[in-house]
Amino acid sequence: MDKLRDLIEKYKAEVKDENPFLIEEVESFRIKYLGTKGLVKTIMGEMKNVAAENKKEAGQLLNEFKMFVEEKFATFDYIGTTNENKNTTNLDLTLPGTPTPIGTRHPISIVKNKIVGIFNKLGFSVAEGPEIEDDFHNFSALNLPENHPARDMQDTFYIAQNPDWLLRTHTSSVQTREMQKGKLPLRIICPGRVFRNETISARAHCFFNQVEGLYIAENVSFADLKQTLYYFVTEMFGKNVKVRFRPSYFPFTEPSAEMDISCLLCNGKGCNVCKKTGWVEILGCGMVHPKVLENCGIDSNKYTGFAFGMGIERITMLSYQIKDLRLFSENDVRFLRQFESAL
Ligand code: PHE
Repeated sequence: MDKLRDLIEKYKAEVKDENPFLIEEVESFRIKYLGTKGLVKTIMGEMKNVAAENKKEAGQLLNEFKMFVEEKFATFDYIGTTNENKNTTNLDLTLPGTPTPIGTRHPISIVKNKIVGIFNKLGFSVAEGPEIEDDFHNFSALNLPENHPARDMQDTFYIAQNPDWLLRTHTSSVQTREMQKGKLPLRIICPGRVFRNETISARAHCFFNQVEGLYIAENVSFADLKQTLYYFVTEMFGKNVKVRFRPSYFPFTEPSAEMDISCLLCNGKGCNVCKKTGWVEILGCGMVHPKVLENCGIDSNKYTGFAFGMGIERITMLSYQIKDLRLFSENDVRFLRQFESAL
């Protein structure tokens, strides 16, 4: 009996020290102590050598040992089958999870949403179209026939497999598509990414984002265009900003103009951003050329319209005083995180 008692004490101490962690270690424990050829079974087999008068006591001792091992076994928290986590102890499943940081909105998206929001209030709805366009929607319909010198104004990426396909150089191509649908009056803005074969620098990139707008109805005038854009600018930049229109040329509008706003950085006094002029150009605009209306199946005797187009990068740079356009496409989180509070 004494021998049995000593043996059980020794095994108990051994079991106490066991601390399996991986699922296969827990299984080894089970086999070693509780399996059919395990320790518990083996010493149970010793019962036959115990004298009859001690059988009761020995039985109790062995039972108690068996329960001790089973209870220990029930306490194991175990994980996976790889060795990676072997050194991580005390897995606490009640701990809250590690927070995953959510991203921030890109400054271009922030400004785009703001521009879209302003024109939504005036009744413009968003229209979108494909980034890969055909020649007709990007050029011909917009009064830029083949060999027209104005095509050189926008260095175009053509698709090698099909010379009729290209990456759209402006979202005016979306306006062509909408006009063709023939639902009038039409009041849309077209945000989207456009592509031009320009050398990448602080001021230019081979892709950028635009918002173009189009309003076609009966009796739309240049005064409507001016007032719409004036409203946009005051909503976007505040009441104190000044506006001027300069005559310009676009094949798809006649008359055409470019719109400048007083420089936000120096308040019109003259600085590097406005090249000492006090003014910065923000968009092109004009009355839709009658030929464009006709190309898209709209009766130019009945309908008139205005159109405008602006680069979102430029407006974002002015709004946040960003000096290098390349920052927008580099995905440097140190840059992007700075717009967290602008959401
Ligand atoms: N499509 C012109 C551009 O990309 C912008 C524009 C749109 C100008 C509408 C006038 C009218 O540069």
